[in-house]
Amino acid sequence: MLNIDLKNKVVLVTGVTSGIGAGIAAIFSQAGSVVSGCGRREESHTDVQNFHGKGAEYGRATLYTQTDVTNDDDLKNLVDRTVDKFGKIDFLISNAGANSFQGSKECSDEDFDKNLNLNLRSHWKISQLCEPHLSKSDNGTIVIITSNHAFSTIPGCFPYNTTKTALRGLVQSLAIEWGPKIRAVGVAPGFIETAGTQTWFDSFPDPGAERERTNAFHPSGRIGTSDEVGAFCAFLCSEYGKFMNGTTYLMDGGRSALMQDT
Ligand SMILES: NC(=O)c1ccc[n+]([C@@H]2O[C@H](COP(=O)([O-])OP(=O)(O)OC[C@H]3O[C@@H](n4cnc5c(N)ncnc54)[C@H](OP(=O)(O)O)[C@@H]3O)[C@@H](O)[C@H]2O)c1
Repeated sequence: MLNIDLKNKVVLVTGVTSGIGAGIAAIFSQAGSVVSGCGRREESHTDVQNFHGKGAEYGRATLYTQTDVTNDDDLKNLVDRTVDKFGKIDFLISNAGANSFQGSKECSDEDFDKNLNLNLRSHWKISQLCEPHLSKSDNGTIVIITSNHAFSTIPGCFPYNTTKTALRGLVQSLAIEWGPKIRAVGVAPGFIETAGTQTWFDSFPDPGAERERTNAFHPSGRIGTSDEVGAFCAFLCSEYGKFMNGTTYLMDGGRSALMQDT
C-alpha cells in the first residue's frame, strides 16, 4: 500500500507560527517526523503552543526556537539546538517569508535590502548551515517555499517577485552542487488560505464577492490550503519523491493556465 511514512525523520521547518509553515509542520507530525520549528514569536505565544499541540496530537516530539531567519547567529542557534535535541536533520523546509509589494520605481533601498535578506539570503544561509547534517541522511532534502510570483507577476509586486524568482536559481545550484547526497526542490504555491489571505480579501468593500471572484479564476474552483502544501512537501521528502530534484513546482489550482481573466 502506498503510504508516506516519515517516521524517525527529523525535519526543520522555518515559520511554523502561522499559515503555510504551520500546515507543513502539522502534516510532517502526522507523517511521523519529529519537527523542529521556528518563528520570531516567543515560546509562550498561543501560535507556538498550537505548533506543539499539533505534534502532541500525533504523538510526535516538537522543538521551537525563537529565531529571526535574517540573523545568522539565530540561524546557527536554530540548527545547533535541533541537532543537540534530535541528533540529526533529514529535511529542511525553508518556508519563512513575507510579502513586500511595491512598485519598482518607488521601492526604497531599505525595503529592497530587507526583502532580499528575508526572501532570498535567509534560504541560502539556512541551507548552508544544514548541509553537513543533511548530507549524513539517507534522503537529505531541502524544500524551498517560493511563490507563483516566481513564474509570473502583476504590477506592484516588486521586490518580492524578484527574490521569489531567484529562489528557483538557488534550488538549481543546490541540487547540482550538493547532489547526490542532498536533493533541492522548490515549491511555488499560488493563492493559499491563510490569515494574510483573509486580510487581503477584507481590504475589499465586499470581501465575500472578492473571494468568489478569486475562486472563479481558479480552474479548481477554489484557493489552496496549507495542508495541501504540507502534503506535497511530505511527498517530496518521502521515498516516492526521490527523483524530484533541482526543479521548482508550481501548485496553483490551475490559476496560471488561464490566459486571460474574463
Ligand atoms: N499565503 C499564500 O498565499 C502564499 C502564496 C505563495 C507563497 N507564499 C509563501 O509561503 C511562505 C509562508 O507564507 P504565509 O502566507 O504562510 O505567511 P504567514 O502566515 O505570514 O507566515 C509566515 C511565517 O514566517 C515567519 N517569519 C516571517 N518572517 C520571519 C523572520 N524574519 N524570521 C523568522 N520567521 C519569520 C512567521 O513567524 P513570526 O511572525 O513568528 O516571525 C510565520 O510563521 C512565505 O515564504 C510566502 O512568501 C505564501
